[in-house]
Amino acid sequence: METLMIKVDKENPSAEALKPAVEMIQKGGLVAFPTETVYGLGGDAENPEASKKIYAAKGRPSDNPLIVHIWDFSQLEEIVSEVPEAARKLADAFWPGPLTMILPKNDRIPLETTGGLNTVAIRMPSHPVARLFLKESNVKIAAPSANTSGRPSPTLAEHVAEDLSGKIDCIIDGGAVDIGLESTIVDLSEDVPTILRPGYINKEMLEKVVGPVRIDPGILDANANKNIRPKAPGMRYKHYAPKGDLAIVEGKPEDVIREINRRVEEDQGKGLKVGVIATKEDRELYHCDHILTIGTRTDEYSIAHNLYAILREFDELGTQKMYTESFETPKIGNAIMNRLLKAAGHEVIRAPHED
Ligand code: TXA
Ligand code: MG
Repeated sequence: METLMIKVDKENPSAEALKPAVEMIQKGGLVAFPTETVYGLGGDAENPEASKKIYAAKGRPSDNPLIVHIWDFSQLEEIVSEVPEAARKLADAFWPGPLTMILPKNDRIPLETTGGLNTVAIRMPSHPVARLFLKESNVKIAAPSANTSGRPSPTLAEHVAEDLSGKIDCIIDGGAVDIGLESTIVDLSEDVPTILRPGYINKEMLEKVVGPVRIDPGILDANANKNIRPKAPGMRYKHYAPKGDLAIVEGKPEDVIREINRRVEEDQGKGLKVGVIATKEDRELYHCDHILTIGTRTDEYSIAHNLYAILREFDELGTQKMYTESFETPKIGNAIMNRLLKAAGHEVIRAPHED
């Protein structure tokens, strides 16, 4: 299959340019498109055949449900069996934007789209290209991240092409995404709103709007909670795994840098190809053949923005061992560490303290 590439102006997309993509999605085809979080791989959410094609293109297990994207609140009312007060409040506060809500579904959304569940994940993206595409096609679009299952989510159209070129009908290229990590998922199908996946919209922001919010115990600490399974099926898989072996080094900044340098020297001495993920501030302090800069400590969002592209870059470099500092930043730190811990297979090294 030939994959059509459509380039659009992110701030000012034209409906005319999107026409071929609109026709494809209406006919049951697959179209990747930019959102403010990551690129999505879209298909008609009400067409079970389209959902099956999404799973096939991504190589994704079919019990891992998709997120349904809408551009107007009335579309939510069409596909859920009830709209709780909390959903209205959260939509008022955060839609359009990087928040996904889980609600009980009705019969319009086939089980193929929800991985067999009776609930549906819904999100109204804010990206101008995503909004125009949704509006012009008048289709509710089921879209997981547009990566091959197990690879980092795509933050550029080039990443989508790397993984899915030849397997999908079209890629809409709207340049780099804004946030770079997937949306916050909040489950409203139970009594207390529960975060199933951390993202840009954090617990404090949600609590200001709906009162107490829980975090799914299954996502907190994989080691402490070996027997508790995350509720979002997608959070159970080993995701975002780079090809090499990544370890997170924690401790006082100077201890972390010393420990990473010590390990790099040891590994390079064994003939291994080694990489370090560094902030702009610390870059000069490392001694390693491959140092990639993830962002700056003065802007925590820059770290979120660059994480996935860096993991892809290491795959291309073919590094066998990688080390990174920890990024427990105040606002989006939970989301960053959730992805980073998965990428590292939860390998965390405590740097020994030296005075
Ligand atoms: O930012 C995002 O959310 C991006 C963009 C494209 O919108 N999409 C995205 O989709 O990250 P995906 O498929 O990669 O992740 C969806 C997650 C999975 O972990 C899935 O298990 C969970 O949402 N999910 C979907 N429906 C669910 C449901 N009914 N109950 C529990 N978890 C659900
Ligand atoms: Mg994904």
